Amino acid sequence: MLSTVGNTPLIELENMFSGSGVRVFAKLERFNPGGSIKDRSALSMLLAKIRSGELEPGRSVVVESSSGNLAIGIAQICAYYGIRFICVVDAKTTAQNLAILRAYQAEIEMIGTRDPETGEYLPMRLRRVRELLESIPHAYSPNQYANHLNPRAHHRTMAEIVQALDGKVDYLVCSTSTFGTLRGCAEYARLHDLPTRFIAVDAVGSVIFGQEPAPRLIPGHGASVVPPLLDPAAAHEVVHVSDLECVVACRLLVNREGILAGGSSGATAAALERMLPRLPLGANAVMIFADGGDRYIDTIYSDEWVHQHFGEVSHLWKERKSC
Ligand SMILES: Cc1ncc(COP(=O)(O)O)c(C=O)c1O
Repeated sequence: MLSTVGNTPLIELENMFSGSGVRVFAKLERFNPGGSIKDRSALSMLLAKIRSGELEPGRSVVVESSSGNLAIGIAQICAYYGIRFICVVDAKTTAQNLAILRAYQAEIEMIGTRDPETGEYLPMRLRRVRELLESIPHAYSPNQYANHLNPRAHHRTMAEIVQALDGKVDYLVCSTSTFGTLRGCAEYARLHDLPTRFIAVDAVGSVIFGQEPAPRLIPGHGASVVPPLLDPAAAHEVVHVSDLECVVACRLLVNREGILAGGSSGATAAALERMLPRLPLGANAVMIFADGGDRYIDTIYSDEWVHQHFGEVSHLWKERKSC
């Protein structure tokens, strides 16, 4: 199963951005077996340790704070190797992700209280990880926020894109949270002297690039802490996208391209759309679509949810379709 991680398809979008003079591509990371780009990071962070014997089935315990895609990627690997996995999640974790994690036999540690200082769950989750590491013998935490094997996984992601486009990757548009994907792709470009310009996509309300924190509804991209892997020099430009822009772009991706994309993919498409008018004709722009829309059926793709949070906004994608 794990040999199917990577080598995801790169497709050209022919409708949504037609007439822009720019060729737009999407790397569809939902085709990884766990459903997201995070399968690559999970494999990179765990496999070397398993092969070297540092992580041992039946003895070692993997502990990680993640409520989404990385947790699913880790759970898949731990299930395969017979390693116990304790996943520290919080009350915002979707019922669907909890069900998937349980199906992969992960043990769930639910954090129900917010950090009194920041109002966020994340500090409490990280504290619980530290407690578990101290109290459980042979426990190990990959710590995706600071582990250099996380960006290292994406040298291959970038290599696949470069190979598919015969080396002509003018722009890479990439959503950010741990900064692992963008950092790894940019490292590869630097190592191979590629002129690719990297566009970081962040959520309005995320603090990664120094903005004020604010509530955010859509998980995946954005962060409530500045990730230690952040290398501001790796991003030539940063675009902040609101939750509503994200929803509209996701809905447009369905009705223009037939792509059921995850929230951060919508953010990436919204960011690229904003930039397109100033990109040179004939350029190749590649978006990384980190996951699929299946995990957002009750939010982004639920008319009730959208109405509850944004009011009557369906004209934003329905009118555009008939243009
Ligand atoms: C759906 C989705 N999009 C984007 C990201 C951000 O990727 P990175 O952590 O490599 O910056 C993540 C990270 O978990 C994600 O799950």
